[in-house]
Amino acid sequence: MADKKLAGQIAIVTGANSGIGEGVAISLGEAGANVVVNYVVNPDAANVIVDKIKSFGSNAIAIKADVSKEDQVMNMFAQTIQQFGTVDILVNNAGLQRDAKLHEMTLAQWQLVIDINLTGQFLCAREAIKEFLRRGIAPERSVACGKIICMSSVHEMIPWAGHANYATSKGGIKMLMQTMAQEYGRQKIRVNSICPGAIKTPINTTAWSTPEAYNSLMNLIPYNRIGVPEDIGKLAVFLASDDSDYITGASIFIDGGMTVFEGFATGG
Ligand code: BGC
Repeated sequence: MADKKLAGQIAIVTGANSGIGEGVAISLGEAGANVVVNYVVNPDAANVIVDKIKSFGSNAIAIKADVSKEDQVMNMFAQTIQQFGTVDILVNNAGLQRDAKLHEMTLAQWQLVIDINLTGQFLCAREAIKEFLRRGIAPERSVACGKIICMSSVHEMIPWAGHANYATSKGGIKMLMQTMAQEYGRQKIRVNSICPGAIKTPINTTAWSTPEAYNSLMNLIPYNRIGVPEDIGKLAVFLASDDSDYITGASIFIDGGMTVFEGFATGG
């Protein structure tokens, strides 16, 4: 039986109906958390994940909300508190890419990525922090007053040609995360980022779906495999649990070594 490190805690995972969010929601549920599976499109996929989490003996509900819309985010938190009583863990995961060369990037492409990836994290974190401060520490569940995990990327440090909107959003998440950690540390709210490299999900299908693409991707990954959502789920459980109680304000890279710049093994 899986270790129930998050027994009884309430977690909201945004963008939880596919990809990394799905993997994280399932891992948190398996660790004993009751999970809000947030989605915008495809409720059927969200409901499958809800059922899977329930099969572990945890509770779960699917809530539709666009994280870039203030009223929808406030509504999602109100519904969560009504159903589960409070929130202990927020995983700010929802994100997307709209790739284009900078000189061809439309304002709509720029704005959508900033709205979902960055403003969405601000809106959800704000509501989570309000609830953490209202409730205070619940020692029967955690020694911390609340935990926020921001889904960043290796691209909070590696510039990415053709993806200026995305890389900018992730650079912004780094400062948002660190500032929140600084601002609320005294209240025992922990805030950290997970920075995934290439993880096999729908966001980056072109990077792994043909043998040529996969081989070329491996030139960037010393550990020589693509990541899977479960890799990220395990780290999220650790960061949400009291095992990581002394970690706050940290960006944790989980990338098979992408950020050690493999090209320099033979060059430079
Ligand atoms: C992006 C993926 C990319 C990975 C490594 C992620 O943040 O969403 O598309 O494969 O970074 O470059």
